[in-house]
Amino acid sequence: AGVRVYDPGFMNTAVIQSNITFIDGEAGILRYRGYPIEQLAEQSTFLESAFLLLYGELPTQQQFKLFEQEVLHHTYVHRDVEQIVGAFRYDAHPMSILTASFAALGAFAPEANPALAGQKLYSSGTTEALAVMDKQIFRILGKAITVGAMAYRIRQGRAFNAPPSGLNYTETYLYLLDHLNEPNYKPNPVIAKALDILFLLHADHELNCSAAAMLQVGSSLADPYSAVAAATAALYGPLHGGANEAVIRMLTAIGSPENVPAYLEKVKKKEVVLSGFGHRIYRTSDPRSKIIRKTAEEVFAVTGRNPLLDTAMALHDAAISDEYFVSRRLYPNVDYWSGLIYQALGFPPDYFTVLFAIPRVVGWLAHWRQLMLQKNGVKIWRPRQLYVGEGERDYVEIEKRE
Ligand code: CMC
Repeated sequence: AGVRVYDPGFMNTAVIQSNITFIDGEAGILRYRGYPIEQLAEQSTFLESAFLLLYGELPTQQQFKLFEQEVLHHTYVHRDVEQIVGAFRYDAHPMSILTASFAALGAFAPEANPALAGQKLYSSGTTEALAVMDKQIFRILGKAITVGAMAYRIRQGRAFNAPPSGLNYTETYLYLLDHLNEPNYKPNPVIAKALDILFLLHADHELNCSAAAMLQVGSSLADPYSAVAAATAALYGPLHGGANEAVIRMLTAIGSPENVPAYLEKVKKKEVVLSGFGHRIYRTSDPRSKIIRKTAEEVFAVTGRNPLLDTAMALHDAAISDEYFVSRRLYPNVDYWSGLIYQALGFPPDYFTVLFAIPRVVGWLAHWRQLMLQKNGVKIWRPRQLYVGEGERDYVEIEKRE
């Protein structure tokens, strides 16, 4: 009831009250549960910030230990899951594999489906409901790195690694990705720390397209695995998480700094976009992109400099001082520099969005948990439209149609 507001693309519509992430797009501020992203990147870890995003407070030592144990305990996947994921071809896009894997995992957790386990499963807020909800959260977080690593190894025709013990979340992921099951394997600490910072920076970003997809599906009380699959599908698009892959393809096509002006001319004629620039919320530099740029230097000190860096810097410097970008307030976003790091680490471009999706699972689940525990229960998300089609008309038989 009431006045219907036409707001294509949700430019101005708030659909939920949230305590999770704060963004001030004018000032370039990002905070998780009140903590500035810069402080967290400097002092926290990905998994500690994951706890913060999910449950609202930084964990005590005891809480963190339990949380880490639960998440890492759930890195194992059922042999049948390995068969399902293993059935993809070597050239399947890793994001297609990841989307399908999350959906498939739901089939292995029937108790997570409210339709099977009782309508009010999550929103009842009982101790039992919270325990069932947390169990799905631990499972999805744990299995995200396992299926993410499987999507990587399929392309190389390599067998899947079994999860190790004694490593933290990010190190476990590096092990699952690459290592050949040596008992004392430890990933390079600089690389592991850099990846952990990247994960932390990608963990949440309030009600972006994929988080909204998570809640749209979650609002029907579908199981969280299906909702995470939908969110992963949303992230795949080049206007969202797919931009980090698009940046590397763009820089490779530009080739060298002297070709930058010609590329910018094409952008101004709206023939192409400048991938990794612009944001729905930020009207200044994305605070994450500054931290990522610093992290990039640390990674390049180990891996060697990414040869595309000169082109990236020339393009960046030309764009931020160009009238087209200045007047539209377009600045680098999180995806502009991250792809350069992923490439230096040896990841193929079509895998970059998986490196965004794995940590973003945390944000999706934090938003989902918040939605399920809303005071007045879950209301199904059902936007309205403005109908502008034909008025009533009579059916015409096929032979009489012109
Ligand atoms: N290159 C060239 N022009 C642009 C760009 C860009 N990257 N971004 C926006 N513009 C122009 C746009 O054409 C429009 O111009 P005009 O006023 O002449 O019509 C103006 O700037 C306003 O842009 P908009 O499309 O209305 O902005 P939006 O809020 O709808 O879109 C965006 C936001 C992120 C989809 C867009 O900036 C974009 O396509 N960027 C490139 C893709 C990208 O880097 N995406 C990653 C986003 S950040 C993290 C993530 O979600 O993964």
